[in-house]
Amino acid sequence: MSPSRLQQMLLSLALAGSCAAVPLAGPPGYDANYGTSRFNATTALKTCLDYHQVPYYVETDPNWTEYATTFNSRLQYEPAAIALPTSAQHISNSVGCAAKARVPVQPKSGGHSYASYSTGGRDGILMIDLENFNAVTLDKVTGIAVVGGGVRLGNLALAIYNNRNLRALAHGTCPGVGIGGHFTHGGYGYSSRAFGLAMDQIVGLDVVLANGTYVHANDTSYPEVYYALRGAADAFGVVVNFYLQTSPAPPDVVNWSFSFPQALASAEAGVLAFKGVQNFALNGSVVDGKLGFGVTIGGNGASFSVHGTYFGPVATFNATVAPALLAQLPWPPASDSSVQAVDWITSLTLLGGAPTLEVPLHGVTDRDNFFAKSVTTTEPFSDEAIRKFFQYILDNGVGSKAPVDWFSIINLYGGPGSAITRKNETFAAYSGHDDLWVIQNYGNVAVNGSFPSAGLDFINGLNDAVTSEVLGFGAYLNYVDPTYNSTQAHNLYYGTELYERLSTLKHIIDPLNLFSNPQSIW
Ligand SMILES: Cc1cc2nc3c(=O)[nH]c(=O)nc-3n(C[C@H](O)[C@H](O)[C@H](O)COP(=O)(O)OP(=O)(O)OC[C@H]3O[C@@H](n4cnc5c(N)ncnc54)[C@H](O)[C@@H]3O)c2cc1C
Ligand SMILES: *[C@@H]1O[C@H](CO)[C@@H](O)[C@H](O)[C@H]1NC(C)=O
Ligand SMILES: *[C@@H]1O[C@H](CO)[C@@H](O)[C@H](O)[C@H]1NC(C)=O
Ligand SMILES: *[C@@H]1O[C@H](CO)[C@@H](O)[C@H](O)[C@H]1NC(C)=O
Ligand SMILES: *[C@@H]1O[C@H](CO)[C@@H](O)[C@H](O)[C@H]1NC(C)=O
Ligand SMILES: *[C@@H]1O[C@H](CO)[C@@H](O)[C@H](O)[C@H]1NC(C)=O
Ligand SMILES: *[C@@H]1O[C@H](CO)[C@@H](O)[C@H](O)[C@H]1NC(C)=O
Ligand SMILES: *[C@@H]1O[C@H](CO)[C@@H](O)[C@H](O)[C@H]1NC(C)=O
Ligand SMILES: *[C@@H]1O[C@H](CO)[C@@H](O)[C@H](O)[C@H]1NC(C)=O
Ligand SMILES: *[C@@H]1O[C@H](CO)[C@@H](O)[C@H](O)[C@H]1NC(C)=O
Ligand SMILES: *[C@@H]1O[C@H](CO)[C@@H](O)[C@H](O)[C@H]1NC(C)=O
Repeated sequence: MSPSRLQQMLLSLALAGSCAAVPLAGPPGYDANYGTSRFNATTALKTCLDYHQVPYYVETDPNWTEYATTFNSRLQYEPAAIALPTSAQHISNSVGCAAKARVPVQPKSGGHSYASYSTGGRDGILMIDLENFNAVTLDKVTGIAVVGGGVRLGNLALAIYNNRNLRALAHGTCPGVGIGGHFTHGGYGYSSRAFGLAMDQIVGLDVVLANGTYVHANDTSYPEVYYALRGAADAFGVVVNFYLQTSPAPPDVVNWSFSFPQALASAEAGVLAFKGVQNFALNGSVVDGKLGFGVTIGGNGASFSVHGTYFGPVATFNATVAPALLAQLPWPPASDSSVQAVDWITSLTLLGGAPTLEVPLHGVTDRDNFFAKSVTTTEPFSDEAIRKFFQYILDNGVGSKAPVDWFSIINLYGGPGSAITRKNETFAAYSGHDDLWVIQNYGNVAVNGSFPSAGLDFINGLNDAVTSEVLGFGAYLNYVDPTYNSTQAHNLYYGTELYERLSTLKHIIDPLNLFSNPQSIW
């Protein structure tokens, strides 16, 4: 697009009326140097952010490294600037400045994107870091929590439970993950078969749009914006506040795990073991929404465990659920199996793997150097798919054969009584509500190490072993895989029909493609 066309567009947006709360502030148009040799995106951003008094950092600032450093150390990118807004007006101004400087924008919430998309997924973006948006308030009558776009999952869980609030939300396991990416791209936890995906609990969103307006989006107010944000927020705006319908926290939670190392003895043993688990998973006389679980193949192909949570008394779990599962496996569970009765917060804390769910609001340093990808399927796995998966592991991934440390987790999303599968693409811009299983294949090396290309090949091969036998497989949006080109990514994450619908909305809501990363909707 030519600069004059861009200027025209911004001008018409700025003049388009003032129905919205916060109009695009400042003089319309692009940076005065745009299109000349004097143009420098960083300088243009600085000039504009200074003009609007938005706090920000650039590469020469002493605080730069701590804000620019990615969670995934394999994928480090350098933004042009990092804005640190303290108000929705600052966010609106930041978006306006990015339009002037013609740089892409990505908000950062918890920063846990697998592809470092909150840092751009490429150099030169404007990151809008939401670390100052950390408030959580709970309406005790409706049970609706209003949650800032920078809140981490651990702090969220504590805020809605503590002080005798005793409320809960379904979400993922790692306390440092942010609400911003997680809730807008699905969001699975062991409570999701009871409460739904994290996104299913959203009832409203406060959002800054590409034209700088700040609106409340819900089913009746800006419904298209509301639809698109739930599945593709990275391409549609900056969510400043989430309105979330909480549930009463389950009073009794069972944390359970049964392990069967024999499953790795041969591909046939693997088929027997996983088929047994799958038979159990589909058995509606014992499995309902109170049960959430997955299978982990860990220790670089040394361990196979079935583990999860059950909402109810441990005696009930022991008398009904456990025997039905164990009856499907050819071996008794190994001695490292365990069944413990815990409360809700203890269950989340055990899952998080740290002594507390509390996460510092600033300067989190946990990192990993990793490559991960996923397979989603709406149908049970065939014997052949399972056999190929285990054969691939035995041939390429056991012990010292493995080029990187790795694990696979196969989570049950669907099945009898699942709250996830009660919704579909008419509810949100998300294609995974009808998934039965979601596999995550994850490889990592030391944070400061170098991730070998053989590690990428290995994880890709593990995925391919399964997809070669699964018709109509997809991929999970919260495990974004940057090795897909945008066409592949769109097909795997959204499917053609949903993608077309989103692409149409995108050209209306964000015609300059400001909110973008290498795989975002366009
Ligand atoms: C250790 C770890 C454990 C995990 N466990 C689980 C799990 O149990 N279940 C599960 O489902 N997933 C899990 N994930 C994946 C996780 O859900 C995704 O990585 C998620 O997108 C991270 O959200 P974030 O806000 O931390 O990421 P960010 O990197 O901040 O953001 C991710 C993307 O969302 C965009 N975004 C962020 N905030 C906003 C906002 N406010 N408005 C609009 N767009 C925004 C960013 O621009 C970026 O494109 C895990 C990831 C890690 C690293
Ligand atoms: C843009 O300006 C910054 C200083 O503000 C400088 O560090 C950077 O090298 C410049 N970039 C280019 C491409 O000239
Ligand atoms: C930025 O860095 C300075 C000194 O290095 C420190 O005092 C300050 O607290 C930092 N600010 C933020 C917001 O991190
Ligand atoms: C949706 O948002 C509008 C505009 O803010 C508000 O008037 C309405 O009450 C909201 N609807 C619900 C169900 O919250
Ligand atoms: C159960 O607790 C163990 C620690 O005892 C933890 O490693 C595991 O992740 C927990 N599992 C679930 C599903 O909460
Ligand atoms: C449940 O079963 C486990 C063994 O799987 C046992 O350790 C535990 O004591 C049992 N709990 C109850 C309350 O029966
Ligand atoms: C389902 O579980 C029940 C209770 O354990 C068991 O009797 C029944 O055989 C199981 N059904 C199948 C198809 O495995
Ligand atoms: C999707 O969900 C809506 C609302 O629950 C329902 O009316 C519709 O039939 C569902 N569509 C499909 C294809 O299942
Ligand atoms: C990685 O390197 C950085 C600096 O190069 C250092 O501060 C950090 O402690 C290292 N981390 C690990 C896990 O070695
Ligand atoms: C994306 O990758 C697929 C499969 O490798 C290839 O067929 C297609 O041409 C690629 N598309 C683009 C736009 O690069
Ligand atoms: C900003 O964009 C939204 C969504 O496309 C639109 O409804 C609104 O009218 C626009 N506001 C202005 C001031 O142009």
